[in-house]
Amino acid sequence: MKIILKIQRFNPETDEKPEHQNYPVEVEPTDRILDALMHIKRFQDGTLAFRKSCAHGVCGSDAMRINGKDCLACKTLVQDVAKIEGEIVIIEPLRYFPVQRDLIVDQTVFFEKYRSVKPFLINDEPVVEKERIQSQEERTAFDDTTSCILCSACFSACPVLGENPDFLGPAAIAQSYRFLADSRDRGFEERLPVLDKPNGIWACQNHFQCTRACPRRIKITRRINQTKNMINKYHEK
Ligand code: SF4
Ligand code: FES
Repeated sequence: MKIILKIQRFNPETDEKPEHQNYPVEVEPTDRILDALMHIKRFQDGTLAFRKSCAHGVCGSDAMRINGKDCLACKTLVQDVAKIEGEIVIIEPLRYFPVQRDLIVDQTVFFEKYRSVKPFLINDEPVVEKERIQSQEERTAFDDTTSCILCSACFSACPVLGENPDFLGPAAIAQSYRFLADSRDRGFEERLPVLDKPNGIWACQNHFQCTRACPRRIKITRRINQTKNMINKYHEK
């Protein structure tokens, strides 16, 4: 079948504003949108810019907006977004980031927020025996959050970030939970100043758009609310 990818193009060095460009492309319904993009780049327009690496939902580099939904191009099939011959599929870069070229965005702010929650195990206590033992139940408490590929789809999907760019954002909070909920971690009070402030966890309004967008099915909103509960309990002590 033939579909038309309507792709947002923008070169900040030469263009005043972004414009959409149509690319008709022959595809199978079971092809991925990433396949269609690569076909366009190889055979129609080598100037089209987008990121990709693994092509299997692991590296997180090809997150973009497809028909207004934040997702990975390598995990989105043509049949998920186009049902009929000649259908137009709109492809745009993630929101809230400066565009470097076409579908490539500068994720600096995302990674700054991610690093601000100290996303690593904090524990200065001496290790007993060989390792810090953890039960299966203790591991299960945060298991989904270990799957994050830092793609930023949740960040672009979050309506709060559209109004308040200083909000810490869903991925950073989910990754703080990944360690706060880890029975081996002792970094709660070190992370508290970043989380416990109006633009930290408290700006989240439970829109659930992050959870819907996440290609790794991380229960982001739930993890944010559990982090809020942890902090409330800490203050009640
Ligand atoms: S939480 Fe999900 S959507 Fe957000 S960065 Fe991680 S993998 Fe991507
Ligand atoms: S190319 Fe790696 S996640 Fe899509």
